[in-house]
Amino acid sequence: MIGVARDPARLESVRAELSGLGEYHGICADLASDTAAETIRKGVASIFDGLDVIVNNAGVMLSHEPELTAEPEGKLEETLAINLLAPFRITRALLSLLELGTEPRVINVSSGAGTFSGMLEPKIASYRLSKWSLNGLTMLQAKEWAGKISVLAFDPGWVRTDLGGPKAPGVPEDSAAGLLKTILLPSSVTGQFVKDGEILPF
Ligand SMILES: NC(=O)c1ccc[n+]([C@@H]2O[C@H](COP(=O)([O-])OP(=O)(O)OC[C@H]3O[C@@H](n4cnc5c(N)ncnc54)[C@H](OP(=O)(O)O)[C@@H]3O)[C@@H](O)[C@H]2O)c1
Repeated sequence: MIGVARDPARLESVRAELSGLGEYHGICADLASDTAAETIRKGVASIFDGLDVIVNNAGVMLSHEPELTAEPEGKLEETLAINLLAPFRITRALLSLLELGTEPRVINVSSGAGTFSGMLEPKIASYRLSKWSLNGLTMLQAKEWAGKISVLAFDPGWVRTDLGGPKAPGVPEDSAAGLLKTILLPSSVTGQFVKDGEILPF
């Protein structure tokens, strides 16, 4: 297992917990950087000969204004850089390693906020648009790699994290359980939006 984070101290802080589950390595990269994908590719290639699963989990929610045009300039671009472009670049950089994996799968951590019905809800417009776009990326990647690599958009549900806030009804362990169910779906399941192991409409 390889974890990627921009803060070396946070990467190290999970070592004790994750090492109990098996071999664990950390790679330090800021996903806002143009060099992040190549840093991650080099790091992964120096550890493993192939990859089975990528979970594109890092995400940001930078604005809470009522409408898109009310958001401070640059917020949409910053949001898309982390929530859309980073998963695209990282997965593309890791493609040759994924092709050597066993029933390889990419999981793009999306959100109900970026579904067709979620797009009609108020606030967090850049965030919604970024997850809508990530859903589109999921569909395109699944089509391109059909029969070789499964690609899924995963909704972790509304849970209490820095991003989810203290009022969320769920806890991160709920998301982890849903993620595990998603990883374990048959490899023929691809190009879908999944929550708690169930396929839902985009
Ligand atoms: N929580 C929810 O209710 C909810 C609902 C739907 C979807 N999601 C999605 O679930 C995923 C995880 O979110 P979360 O709730 O765990 O949010 P979080 O607590 O804010 O964590 C986000 C993670 O992304 C990392 N990150 C942000 N920018 C980065 C960068 N430039 N380079 C490297 N890492 C970066 C953060 O690293 P640092 O620790 O260094 O800041 C942090 O570890 C996100 O994709 C989010 O959109 C969450």
